Amino acid sequence: MLTLNHFVAHKPWHSLNTSTATPHQSTKPPIPPKLITTTVISSSSNNNKTSSAGNVKRLVLSKEGRTKLNPASDRDFYAYPRFVKHVDDAFISTLTDLYRERLRPGWEVLDLMSSWVSHLPDEVDYKRVVGHGLNAQELARNPRLDYFFVKDLNHDQQLQLEDSSFDAVLCTVSVQYLQHPEKVFAEVFRVLKPGGVFIVSFSNRMFYEKAIGAWREGTGYSRVQLVVQYFQCVEGFTEAEIIRKIGSKDGVKDKNKSSSPFVWVMSLVGLALSGADPFYAVIAHKNFKPIYE
Ligand SMILES: C[S@@+](CC[C@H](N)C(=O)[O-])C[C@H]1O[C@@H](n2cnc3c(N)ncnc32)[C@H](O)[C@@H]1O
Repeated sequence: MLTLNHFVAHKPWHSLNTSTATPHQSTKPPIPPKLITTTVISSSSNNNKTSSAGNVKRLVLSKEGRTKLNPASDRDFYAYPRFVKHVDDAFISTLTDLYRERLRPGWEVLDLMSSWVSHLPDEVDYKRVVGHGLNAQELARNPRLDYFFVKDLNHDQQLQLEDSSFDAVLCTVSVQYLQHPEKVFAEVFRVLKPGGVFIVSFSNRMFYEKAIGAWREGTGYSRVQLVVQYFQCVEGFTEAEIIRKIGSKDGVKDKNKSSSPFVWVMSLVGLALSGADPFYAVIAHKNFKPIYE
């Protein structure tokens, strides 16, 4: 039976906003970001760890849950640049508002799985914005990045970045492509400063063939729970906060943080009527002090 969830989950990225839109204006001068090609800012060894903070407590995904319909190299899939927006304007504006609310000026920010847009508010100056992704041409066009690096996180999850070096890590509409999210979330934990925040946002669009099985087969509700579990499986993240917004073509109309199945079903009905991209964000912080020492 074709359910509502099946219908919304299978919408492809390229059905929307495929025009080459103008990049966000930046308050920074238009200096192209620098490509980081070596381990210049690396110190990723955890040899001196004295607590269990940052350890992966358990694996969330089964072997099947990690599989992709298209098993070919992700680097090949992203070999050519896609100068498109992957979600609608209401989603982007909600995300930018969230960043405006949660990220402070002067912060050091890592935009994981980024592209030519970062969705950061134009008017806010950050100390440093580092981008990561799979296509150097896209990242080079991103006006908010000071630096960027290219790395296939399904091939190797270790980030060549110093421990405790970022106030915020962002991952926008991309978490569904991670085949080893437990290790990636542990790496994000490592590079976050104590108290730092990790904001994972997503909608129901995806490159279906490149999304992992656990995501493809899921519902919006189960995807939120999956990301919550990615956070929970790493020792030392705070309890995850969930934000859901079901929009309309004129903008966001409804907001709730409830996990009630009834509210969820009603949200989906609203979504189907509006045709807009739903907004989900799961947010947690690196605890200031390890809970278990
Ligand atoms: C839908 S795009 C989202 C880009 C950007 N975050 C945005 O909001 O427009 C998905 C991104 O995930 C990244 N990605 C996909 N598979 C990846 C992998 N195996 N390793 C690293 N990055 C990957 C690609 O760089 C791609 O730009």
